[in-house]
Formats: sequence, structure tokens, C-alpha cells
Amino acid sequence: MKKITIAIDGFSSCGKSTMAKDLAREIGYIYIDSGAMYRAVTLYCIENGLVDGKEINTAKLREAMKDISISFQLNAETGRPDTYLNGANVESKIRTMEVSSLVSPVATLDFVREAMVAQQQAMGKEKGIVMDGRDIGTTVFPDAELKIFVTASAEIRAQRRYDELKAKGQEASYEEILENVKQRDFIDQNREVSPLRKADDAILLDNSNLTIAEQKEWLMKQFELVISD
Ligand code: DC
Repeated sequence: MKKITIAIDGFSSCGKSTMAKDLAREIGYIYIDSGAMYRAVTLYCIENGLVDGKEINTAKLREAMKDISISFQLNAETGRPDTYLNGANVESKIRTMEVSSLVSPVATLDFVREAMVAQQQAMGKEKGIVMDGRDIGTTVFPDAELKIFVTASAEIRAQRRYDELKAKGQEASYEEILENVKQRDFIDQNREVSPLRKADDAILLDNSNLTIAEQKEWLMKQFELVISD
């Protein structure tokens, strides 16, 4: 069967990764969480003294880019890929509020985006890939055969992230998360390089009132439509 490229973009915490991961597993494709790559760069900044308050030391980060290596390895227990930063598994470290609140400014830096996009395009060279993010259908894979743009209300997204953190036993405040979701929406949509926007040929999905199962079924249908074309 022919292999295609699937781009799933949209706002933060709208369930993109869950649907992308599930689809990839079901159809035997590679899954790449491009947001995890920006989060890993952010963690590198935190761990290497490149953050002063809310400011990123851009000059030092530019120099450090050559020392940052990000990869993914399948976790046999969860059946999902974990993120590695310079050989260390950072999957849970990159999901903290500290990283979430610094990642948008890091993701606005042109030299960071250039490096990440180049790696993402290399990962997708053979097709058979599902990648989720903000600019996958517009910049990383503009020729992707299937593009989905996911959205849901900020309040619903904040509640989902709150439930996720709580389930992992992490401290969380709904108000703080909602503020963070809104702030990231603003930065993601208004940055100069590759702002978050729906590709003209992407299919819009508002999943505010869909269950995970309904969403999964919808996505599978879109995949089958493209593949049988
Ligand atoms: O999907 P996420 O919340 O893990 O993404 C983390 C941040 O990275 C988010 O604020 C936007 C940014 N990002 C991006 O700019 N481009 C991507 N392709 C993926 C994520």
C-alpha cells in the first residue's frame, strides 16, 4: 500500500498528540511529536543556565545548537516514543509547567526553527509518518497528502491539560494553566517565523465536543479517504 505523509497541526493541548499517536500505531506509521523537540531545546536552556527569569540567552543558545541532539525511541511499556535529549530520556521533564511557560519564546527563534524543521524533514523523507505540531502542514511538509487542523475552546483545552497533570500526580492550578494556554495561543499565532495558521488545504476539526473514540474514528475515515484515492 502507498505510504503518505500526515500533518496534524493546531492549538496547544487540543488532543493533537493523542489522535496522532493512536492513528500512527493503528496504521503502522512513525509518529513524531514536533512540540517535544521545542520542549527539549527549552529544557536544555533551563539545565544549562541559558534562562534568566523569562529571558532566553539567545546568543548562547545559537552557539549551543550544535551541541543539542534530539531523538525519539519507542518505549516498550507505553508503546509510544519517548523524547531523548543528548542521550537522556527527558519525556517527563519536558512536560512540566516550567518548560511549558518558556517554550513559546524558544519556539519563536528563527535559528531554533530552522534546525528543528531540517531534522523533521529528514525524519519524514521516506513518508509513512504522522507528525503533529503548529507548522507541519504549512512549512515542514507543505506537500503532505493529509493535513488536519485541530481546535477546541481554550477552557476545554486547559481542563484537559489540568486533568493530564493531575493524573500524573503533578501539582497544577486550572487558572494558571488557562492563562498559559491563552498566552501560548497568542505567541504561537503572532510570531514572525511560521506562525500557527491553518494550511489552505487542511481539514478543520473542532473537537470541543468529541470523545477520543469519536475523534479517532473521524481521523481514520479521513486517512482511508486519502489512501483509497
Ligand atoms: O504541542 P506542544 O504544546 O508540546 O508544543 C510546545 C510549544 O512548541 C508550543 O508553544 C508551540 C511550539 N511548537 C511550534 O512552534 N512548532 C511546532 N511544530 C510544534 C510546537
